[in-house]
Amino acid sequence: MSDLFDFSRKKQLYAVFGNPISHSKSPLVHSLFAKEFGINLEYRAIQVDIGGFEQAVSGFQANGGNGLNVTVPFKLNAWKIADELTDRARIAGAVNTLSFDYSSIKGDNTDGVGLVKDIETNLKVRLADLNILVIGAGGAVRGILAPVLDRNPHLITIANRTKGKADALVELFSDYGNIRSTALEHTNRSQYDIIINATSTGIDGEVPSVPPEVFQGVSLVYDMMYGKAPTKMMEWADQNGAQRVSDGLGMLVEQAAESFSIWHNAVPSTQPVISAIREQME
Ligand code: ATR
Repeated sequence: MSDLFDFSRKKQLYAVFGNPISHSKSPLVHSLFAKEFGINLEYRAIQVDIGGFEQAVSGFQANGGNGLNVTVPFKLNAWKIADELTDRARIAGAVNTLSFDYSSIKGDNTDGVGLVKDIETNLKVRLADLNILVIGAGGAVRGILAPVLDRNPHLITIANRTKGKADALVELFSDYGNIRSTALEHTNRSQYDIIINATSTGIDGEVPSVPPEVFQGVSLVYDMMYGKAPTKMMEWADQNGAQRVSDGLGMLVEQAAESFSIWHNAVPSTQPVISAIREQME
């Protein structure tokens, strides 16, 4: 075959759109995945102006872009722009993965699968029959609820500073499994197996105001944030009797792996990439 028709050699173009985006690990994660399969790709982190998402997507497509990851605050815009949605993206009301072909834009949400894979495969904690507390009721929570409910936990309790938002999610997701809401200050009325922090409090080095006794004897406290050092939530949970704590770096890599397999039809190894990013952050 002449090089003229050898499209496999052509460099593919991907990016993550967000605002802010400068600290994104996605370019590194995707280039490490691509290396495993010898795929020739470029993956950029692009800061998009608030209000400029749709135009930026059109421009990226016109420049030959093959797919996009979408992060805060554009996941709802991405959901709206997609011509076709997977079930999990439709239910989440948020999209973090866009794929372009000649005629349409496909939207998916890999956040929930990323979280479930990190907890079940990497941390080896099965979610079936567990009593789970999810703290937060924003976009991050919408993305994870259906995939977590799909693992058949005993019950998910959502606690949020603005309780009405937790109630609204309960209403939206009650068809998919056992789910209820509570106030942050009442979370200590139950014993949980797993607590997932999905609030944005960690950005400011804060923690949500749950009573510290809630952590006593909990098998796993999972903070969806990650950073160089353990997060404040991890330290606080550890000091208050949690048996195990984890940050969300594994979720980041697992959701990226799911996006990668959608785009390239190849499932990358995640453990070496999690270790590489951890090392790079030190
Ligand atoms: P994301 O896409 O990261 O979920 P978001 O939609 O802005 O971002 O949601 C942020 C979440 O963190 C919300 O659940 C928010 O609570 P409210 O719904 O009451 O705003 C929660 N959050 C942010 N700051 C918080 C704080 N200081 N204490 C408790 N919860 C907080």
